[in-house]
Amino acid sequence: MDNTILSAENISMLFSTRKGTITALKNLTFSVENGQFVAIVGPSGCGKSTLINILAGMLKPTQGRVLLEGKAVNNVNSKVGMVFQKYAAFPWMTVEQNVSYGPRIARLPKSKIEEITRRYIKMVGLEGYEHLYPKELSGGMSKRVDIARAYANSPDVLLMDEPFGALDDITKKQMQLELLKIWDQEKKTVLFITHDLEEALFLANRVIVLQKPEGDCESLNVIQEIPFSRPRLPELRADTEFIEMKTLLAEVMVR
Ligand SMILES: Nc1ncnc2c1ncn2[C@@H]1O[C@H](COP(=O)(O)OP(=O)(O)OP(=O)(O)O)[C@@H](O)[C@H]1O
Ligand SMILES: [Mg+2]
Repeated sequence: MDNTILSAENISMLFSTRKGTITALKNLTFSVENGQFVAIVGPSGCGKSTLINILAGMLKPTQGRVLLEGKAVNNVNSKVGMVFQKYAAFPWMTVEQNVSYGPRIARLPKSKIEEITRRYIKMVGLEGYEHLYPKELSGGMSKRVDIARAYANSPDVLLMDEPFGALDDITKKQMQLELLKIWDQEKKTVLFITHDLEEALFLANRVIVLQKPEGDCESLNVIQEIPFSRPRLPELRADTEFIEMKTLLAEVMVR
């Protein structure tokens, strides 16, 4: 049975700049199965953020198309949720107001808004912090608000662009474990962009490597299935097979 939820079909993206035309993506094709955790890795400038913007419908590709649940994506839509590297919570709203923002905009009934807000604040471990403002939170806590906000909109697919890129190593590892727990509970498809190979291997079922030979992004040519069982535990990082796979991916990435 075809269980594809999202697919990129022969995507290319060219940008005209004062320095000439930049090829950010070239003939990229892949598909993602419903419920999977897919990581996309690649060196800086290989088009990862460009790709995520295209998948979200925020940017129109020069060539190719994106299908979400079989339909072409042409605009931003509520079936896709986003989490970025930068903190995205509204500074003038409390944690609770931030998490309830999407459901309020969607004009859900009051009781439903309250239920969703409570549920996702609990899911990310921010109970007791509902009335604080973003500036009163740590980096990890702010990221939790972003994740709760994204899930509260009930998207079918979550696109995350280096969400833990700005966090210190310990907080980052803690957030990875929490995200895996949330992913397991919610059963939603996640596309997770990172340039951290260890993070990609630790989280994903599948890693897609974007390459950047001679300044141009080649068509996607490496998809690695990740065989490690779940739940993924911190010890996995010291596993021989894990380390070998990391080395292999690092070689592929710069090839
Ligand atoms: N709006 C734009 N206009 C012109 N060029 C752009 C634009 N957005 C991206 N680019 C170019 O496209 C290429 C890919 O950029 P992108 O931000 O997608 O890379 P990335 O893989 O996300 O990098 P990083 O890991 O540093 O975040 C770069 O060469 C960049 O300069
Ligand atoms: Mg980027």
